[in-house]
Amino acid sequence: ISTEANIVLEINKAVATFYHIYLNSKYGAEGKLYLKKRGISSEIQEKFLLGYAPLNPTLLLRYLEKKGFSKDDIIKAKVLYFVRDEWKDPFAGRVIFPIVNPRGKVIGFGGRSLTGEEPKYLNSPESEFFSKGKNLYALYQAKESIKKEGEAILVEGYMDAISLHQAGITNVVASLGTAFTSHQAKLLKSYTNKVILSYDQDSAGYQAGKRALSLLEVEGIEVYWLSLPKDVKDPDEFIHKYSKEEFLKFVKESKPSLDFLIENTLSLPMNFKERLEEIIEILTSSILRSKNILVQQEKIKQYLPLISKRLGVPEEGIQ
Ligand code: CTP
Ligand code: MN
Ligand code: MN
Ligand code: MN
Ligand code: MN
Repeated sequence: ISTEANIVLEINKAVATFYHIYLNSKYGAEGKLYLKKRGISSEIQEKFLLGYAPLNPTLLLRYLEKKGFSKDDIIKAKVLYFVRDEWKDPFAGRVIFPIVNPRGKVIGFGGRSLTGEEPKYLNSPESEFFSKGKNLYALYQAKESIKKEGEAILVEGYMDAISLHQAGITNVVASLGTAFTSHQAKLLKSYTNKVILSYDQDSAGYQAGKRALSLLEVEGIEVYWLSLPKDVKDPDEFIHKYSKEEFLKFVKESKPSLDFLIENTLSLPMNFKERLEEIIEILTSSILRSKNILVQQEKIKQYLPLISKRLGVPEEGIQ
């Protein structure tokens, strides 16, 4: 790594430490109260090095300067901005989620507003040192567990990942938003061959889930689709309303992605022709994503009779 990249990593680490100390000081009460309301224990706040950013940016500036970092380096690391003769912390007043790479280095931050201010989550700007789409939140904390379990649970958000870890389900990573990327699929593939998708229960989550599963399948990962009951928005809500055991029951009952998509399409209101086209599209695109011809043939053998029966169309017709 270049010296420059090293300095950025050093600064990020110091910033994460500062926000974390600030959260746990008497000045961090608002952040602390917010996390308490969200049911996040102090223990898990430590494990994920959660923090709180002061409204006054000069506190962080002074802390970093005392550690020996120059104003130039601080600006280059994009943790504070200097605009019109004023220092500015983009995360001021937000609860901070440091984003850590698999080697444990802080590479960026997410910050949640406490006030309903938009955007709800703010992330560090994309740079040569940080790219949201190339990382997975909580992978550093999850990687051993993913290898041990032989599977990873993929969720959308910071709070989903943290709450499941807190409940003792530790093979969980978050894609940091809905736009899953092929980088993230490749990264996951280096830890496991099986992923259970547990995205939000809304149509954005459904669309994003379909995108994620296709990118994962391209990497040869087996994808399962977890559907939660409709009375919760996301895994974070579920785990606070129900329990670890109940979540694990849904994990166990999660369906191979293709089964889920076919069943889901059968349940939607559509006319016969639309349904037929949609299901054939789902099946063929899944077949085409498998590079292995044996896997392709296996899928045809398994699903052709099923959809023929469910749609009442002879197999030859579908073929
Ligand atoms: N996200 C983001 N910027 C936004 C909104 C969302 O980066 N303006 C990312 C965050 O990583 C967030 C994830 O997308 O965690 C999922 O978004 P959403 O479901 O809206 O948020 P939740 O994680 O459910 O947030 P919370 O429970 O705190 O309301
Ligand atoms: Mn601590
Ligand atoms: Mn959502
Ligand atoms: Mn959500
Ligand atoms: Mn949520």
